[in-house]
Amino acid sequence: MACVRFILQRGTKILETQAAVNTRLAQVIKDSGIGDPDFSHCGFKLECGSCAVNIDHSLAGAPKIEELMLLKSMGDEKSTRCSCQIQVSEKLEGKTIKLVW
Ligand code: FES
Repeated sequence: MACVRFILQRGTKILETQAAVNTRLAQVIKDSGIGDPDFSHCGFKLECGSCAVNIDHSLAGAPKIEELMLLKSMGDEKSTRCSCQIQVSEKLEGKTIKLVW
């Protein structure tokens, strides 16, 4: 099983972490403890948007229409994605992922 090392950032708090490929990014953030206490409160059902991160879309794959609609309702920026919809991949190696909340 391949692992990827990347950096999570929330405000000025930074954590370098490692996760197995195909792990849900939101689960990695939740397990790291760097997220807000209210992080991912819908349980990865794509209903809350509290798992939003700033990440280049080319690193995270194309979002589904349901995710785009949720992000748009939140005042989405082009680089925002729901981390519950992102699987860790080798593309994240060494990258910085910023939590929105
Ligand atoms: S955990 Fe609620 S939208 Fe991702």
